[in-house]
Parts: sequence; C-alpha cells; structure tokens
Amino acid sequence: MDAERDIQNIALTGFMGCGKTAVGRVVARVSGFEFLDTDLFIEEHVGMSIPRIFEEHGEETFRRYEREVVTRLAERSETVIATGGGLLVDHANMDTMKQYAMVFCLWASPDSIWRRVKDQSHRPLLQTENPRQRIIDLMKERKPAYGRADMLVNTEYRSAKDVAQLILSQYRGAIGARA
Ligand code: S3P
Repeated sequence: MDAERDIQNIALTGFMGCGKTAVGRVVARVSGFEFLDTDLFIEEHVGMSIPRIFEEHGEETFRRYEREVVTRLAERSETVIATGGGLLVDHANMDTMKQYAMVFCLWASPDSIWRRVKDQSHRPLLQTENPRQRIIDLMKERKPAYGRADMLVNTEYRSAKDVAQLILSQYRGAIGARA
C-alpha cells in the first residue's frame, strides 16, 4: 500500500450492470459504513436524471460532474462508494480516489452484463442500435483503466453477499496491514 494513501473508504467500480450497487449496499450493511452511489449523488445535486443530463448537456458535462464528485468525496470516511461505470476510467479520477479509498473493480463477462442490462433503459451509452456489441467494445476499451484498481473481483457465479464478504475481508486485511 502506498505510504501517502489515507484509505478510509471502499470504492466499487466496474462496467455497467456488474452489480456495484447491489454489492455496495451489502458491504455497507455488514460494515456499518454509509452507502453512496455517485450517479445518485450527481442526480440529486444537479436535479436531473442521468439520461436527461446526457440528453440536455451531453456526456462531457456529465464527466465534469463526475470529476467534481471525486474531489468532493475526499473528505469522506467509512463510506462505500459505488461509482458510475465510467468514472474511474479517467486516470486522474482513479489516482485521486485511490488516495482516500481502496478501489475494487467488479467483473462480469459481456454476456452476463448483457443479460442484466438488456431490459433496462436508463443507460444512455447503451441506447444504440447494437448495445450488445457496444458492451463488448466499451469493455475492451476500458480494460486497462479497470486494471488500475487495487483488486479485480470476479462476480460470476457468486452472490452479492459472497462478493461483499470477499471485499470486506480484503479491505480489513489491507487496512490492518497498513496500521
Ligand atoms: C456509465 C455508467 C452508468 C452512468 C452513466 C455512464 C458509464 O452507471 O454513470 O450512464 O460510462 O459506464 P452504472 O455503471 O451504475 O450503470
């Protein structure tokens, strides 16, 4: 663990539909940490849904809001932060969040992701002619960025509870090892 890091939070990243919110809520419940979802945080502060932000202001503005959230959350402690799937693809965001959180990247195969998201309509990036191919392309493009997380966690064939327990034991081990 880098000496200059002051880790007091757990961050979950990974592709859309990989279970960040479901797992994050379990981690928060078991650890007693607060739960915070960056998409909800942005929606509440901007007063608009994510699809509307994309539609009316564009993706660039949404990414700016995400960068602002990363900075604002630095004062947090004992919080489980579920990030939007693109938030930590930005290297600077990943570096900043790593200062105050241990970052776990949840992974699921493109097929599983597709099964989980295909009946949902609230993700602007998947409103394309061929969303299945878009998932494959975006996952490939983001792989190096997700690989910069502290730990990659495979969620296939595992319940949210199992994934949450694995994350907590890793977090406690790392924080204990640092002390
Ligand atoms: C995005 C993921 C979404 C949301 C926005 C953009 C992305 O969050 O932030 O639609 O770039 O992957 P979820 O990962 O929670 O779906």
